[in-house]
Amino acid sequence: MTRRAIVRGVGHYLPERIVPNSFFEDLVDTSDEWIRTRSGIERRHFAAEGETTSQMAVKAAQAALENAGMQVKDIDAIIVATTTPDLTFPSTATMVQHGLGMERGFAFDVQAVCAGFVFALVNANALIATGQANRILVIGAETFSRLLDMTDRSTCVLFGDGAGALILEAHAGTGTNEDRGILASDLNSDGRDRDMLFVDGGPSTTGTTGVVKMLGNQLFRRAVERLTETARHSLGKAGLSDNDIDWIVPHQANIRIIKGTAKKMGIPMERVIVTVQDHGNTSAASIPLALSVAQSEGKIKRGDLVLTEAIGGGLAWGSVVLRW
Ligand code: UT7
Repeated sequence: MTRRAIVRGVGHYLPERIVPNSFFEDLVDTSDEWIRTRSGIERRHFAAEGETTSQMAVKAAQAALENAGMQVKDIDAIIVATTTPDLTFPSTATMVQHGLGMERGFAFDVQAVCAGFVFALVNANALIATGQANRILVIGAETFSRLLDMTDRSTCVLFGDGAGALILEAHAGTGTNEDRGILASDLNSDGRDRDMLFVDGGPSTTGTTGVVKMLGNQLFRRAVERLTETARHSLGKAGLSDNDIDWIVPHQANIRIIKGTAKKMGIPMERVIVTVQDHGNTSAASIPLALSVAQSEGKIKRGDLVLTEAIGGGLAWGSVVLRW
């Protein structure tokens, strides 16, 4: 028997306020046309004043619990992937634990920026595989709008807020790649590229929160290369190839990166989940948001082979192959 972590439920939450590209035309020298053609983004959601990452995460978690037909008491652990915590500490995950009314188990955050959800999934899988937990809420949640410099056109137009949640549950598998659940994963980071995407503040340096700085063009080229590489590594570990994939659910940073990676892998865009037009780049929230939207639209179905991949600040990147 192999302990597999299977997906039992998925849900998401998006803040009410939708911000169209035209909003930025009054702030910086940009246009709806530039944003659409260079990034694929048409709109994004921004959290309301006072709305926090943990509040959004709680709503996404509640949607996932409902989707799974589970209650909070069924959950053993919560992992929140976020770069925009409510406070420097305690973890956003413990705030979510409290917000859900969960009085046992454990909760912690994972910080790998846009790759955070992939890192969180791999951690959750390890906890389930080793018997530390049977059911884990894995959440990606961000209020990235709070890190934006609204005078920097090269970054402010790209990001959005939101939260997505997945419930993983221990399941007896056979150990073959026909099993449901997480089949393989691949994680990487390279701190030499830390200046490509970073926030220029923090508790031990400036004592401020800081704003996003990005060398978009360099990161763009690195992204397609690294994402294709990590996808192939995960698939190889699972004994599968590009042709076996039913759905790629990529990090939603830029439609051109998504298309470039799919093309390199020979996967037609009909088999790629794309939400970047509606959400912008929501960092660690983008993959669970895309998974939730895709399931609610009836695209991803039980038994489908799903590949998720992401890259972000660090640089940190990775992928997970799972059977839904
Ligand atoms: O989630 C983590 C991972 N993130 C990413 O992977 C992001 C990767 N990078 C990207 O998505 C793209 O590089 C961007 C969308 C950020 C930029 O697209 P690009 O095609 O790489 O443009 P560029 O940075 O080479 O800039 C081209 C031009 C520049 O003007 P000049 O120097 O050619 O005169 C920029 O100043 O576009 C200018 N520009 C803008 N123009 C209008 C940059 N931002 C804007 C803007 N509106 N918002």
